[in-house]
Amino acid sequence: MQARLKGKVAVVTGGVSGMGLGIVEMYVREGAKVVVADIQESKGAALEARFRGDVKFCRCDIRSEDDIARSISMAEEEFGGLDIMCHVAASPAARKGLADVTIEDWDDAQAVLLRSHVFLIKHSIPAMKRRGNGSIILFSSASCKTFKAQTPVAYVVAKGAVLHLGRWAAFDLAKDNIRVNVIVPGMYLTSIWGATVGASPAVADLMPQHLHEMASNWQPFPRYGRPSDIAYAATYLGSDESAFVTGTELAVDGGLSVHRPPLDPEYITEHLQNAKKMAEDELAAEE
Ligand SMILES: NC(=O)c1ccc[n+]([C@@H]2O[C@H](COP(=O)([O-])OP(=O)(O)OC[C@H]3O[C@@H](n4cnc5c(N)ncnc54)[C@H](O)[C@@H]3O)[C@@H](O)[C@H]2O)c1
Repeated sequence: MQARLKGKVAVVTGGVSGMGLGIVEMYVREGAKVVVADIQESKGAALEARFRGDVKFCRCDIRSEDDIARSISMAEEEFGGLDIMCHVAASPAARKGLADVTIEDWDDAQAVLLRSHVFLIKHSIPAMKRRGNGSIILFSSASCKTFKAQTPVAYVVAKGAVLHLGRWAAFDLAKDNIRVNVIVPGMYLTSIWGATVGASPAVADLMPQHLHEMASNWQPFPRYGRPSDIAYAATYLGSDESAFVTGTELAVDGGLSVHRPPLDPEYITEHLQNAKKMAEDELAAEE
């Protein structure tokens, strides 16, 4: 069987960790060349070495329009064009609600979680027009659909706006043969959870293994999402199998958008804090 992404070139933001990494691995396996755009340089260099010739790393902070433009240019210069732009990168906003959010919290969160989508689309358009078509994949979150206490207001609102941006962009770019779809993940055990409780990146990377119980209780399915669950969705949306699919939302969430089991906020905080402590102890023992 022919590889599903043979001949395609992709930019994957956030591609050194979690779901983004799962997507990069599957994209390469399916025959794509990939520019990984992320801020974690040592992980990017390791990924480039692991997939020599198929992956190029671009140090790209998605808050910077210049960095975004550079990652798109790299796809054209290194691999000859751009077919897929898959924007996975994000960091969690400060855990604040309407009563205590500050202007700085709000602006920082929107720069990462919403504005970056606009400028990644903007800079993908000319490259995709040169190619004659393209697929843009944005990332929202189930948390913007079924609310849960403690989710930061800036995160929920930005992820909701991404859904709307996806619909607008699908309408606006259909005439150019560019498709835009949004993936809506549910619970995935990745490093992003560490950042919600102020863990350092090294500690955050070790936390997921201590959160299995909480994550398994998060949705109707008795397990949490795996990067490969998301990667299959991103492969479908990036491939020609979805050539007539645009303006959709694809939930990959074990039923979370149908029903959110009532988890006590204190149960969640306790699990996150315990996982952080265990990860810190492990790291200290290694050093
Ligand atoms: N993990 C979950 O349960 C969950 C649930 C719903 C939605 N999501 C969304 O899924 C996507 C993937 O998240 P993940 O769980 O794989 O997270 P992750 O923390 O494992 O990966 C996020 C990546 O984004 C990169 N990144 C962060 N800030 C950046 C910046 N300013 N510029 C460039 N890169 C930056 C990080 O270095 C990291 O590689 C995100 O959009 C997230 O909001 C995650």
